[in-house]
Amino acid sequence: MERIFSGVQPTGNLHLGNYLGAIRNWVRLQSQFECLYCVVDLHAITVPQDPLELRANTREVTAGLLAAGIDPTNNIIFNQSQVSGHSELAWIFNCVARLGWLNRMTQFKEKAGKRRDNATVGLYAYPNLMAADILLYQATHVPVGDDQKQHLELTRDIAQAFNSMFGVDFFPEPEPVIMDDAARVMSLRNGASKMSKSDESDYSRINLTDDGDTIALKIQKARTDPDPLPYSAEGLEGRSEAENLIGIYAALSDTSIAETCDEFGGENFSKFKSRLTEVAIARLVPIGEEMRRLAGDVSYIDSVLSEGAERARHLANPVLNEVKRIVGLL
Ligand code: TYM
Repeated sequence: MERIFSGVQPTGNLHLGNYLGAIRNWVRLQSQFECLYCVVDLHAITVPQDPLELRANTREVTAGLLAAGIDPTNNIIFNQSQVSGHSELAWIFNCVARLGWLNRMTQFKEKAGKRRDNATVGLYAYPNLMAADILLYQATHVPVGDDQKQHLELTRDIAQAFNSMFGVDFFPEPEPVIMDDAARVMSLRNGASKMSKSDESDYSRINLTDDGDTIALKIQKARTDPDPLPYSAEGLEGRSEAENLIGIYAALSDTSIAETCDEFGGENFSKFKSRLTEVAIARLVPIGEEMRRLAGDVSYIDSVLSEGAERARHLANPVLNEVKRIVGLL
């Protein structure tokens, strides 16, 4: 049986990048595979968090997954810290992964910046915890955005190294599942940087909780260039803002970039932006409304998380016991 695992950090708003790059694919995959979707609160604390906000964000992100259409009865939705096996396996992987491998991780370099000595050890070892998340369930496929590719490669290296250190064929080498059209959603203010929760400008991203007027305003203000839209995807080369908006349109309306160029080629941005606004509002506003409604029902959200954790532990425990046996832990 193929098994899907993926995770999202509860650090602030879910945005269009999370939705198009990952969550919408989680929804698609749920009917075909056994899926575990995890709100990774232990990853969130690798940088400072306000405890009250962390709790609220964990619930809000859970509400977002449910509102996007993930069914918590057929899938497992849970938060990472409720299943202690993640931390236990991460420690074992700290003793498998090499400093040299972690030193190559671009996300650590970006996040730690110039103040590297001040970064937490947790931020540095973050990819080992991510490998533990996936391998604790012997997951075979991991649907993520493009920015997680390097962490997935490291997960494969760790699985391979563990198997060869102990002469076993225990961990699978999980495959990333990356959907091409919106694998990398860029900032609405700068086509060269990724849409992200940490961008200071709220105009750089569309949040899943934004109302229709806010979405319209953000699209209206989104940066473009002076040329009309191209007739084919090749014409997007060197036009990162146009490419981003067309990619977003294609993903939101379930068409391709080529078809979108076909439809809007030769038009100016204002006409395209009004169509994009319509599509974005039709797709996102219902999710935002449902998310707000669910987030208000704290006891329901908490019950989804605790039931999910119970089921996750049930899958994780035999794997962890076997790992301990392989390693020689009594
Ligand atoms: P996180 O919380 O940053 O993002 C969650 C998912 O959203 C995708 N994503 C994007 N996709 C396209 N364009 C963007 N601008 C964009 N921004 C975010 C991410 O690729 C991700 O799929 N380390 C992970 C969380 C994690 C995880 C895991 C993922 C922890 N353990 C195990 C998979 C498997 C992260 O920080 O995602």
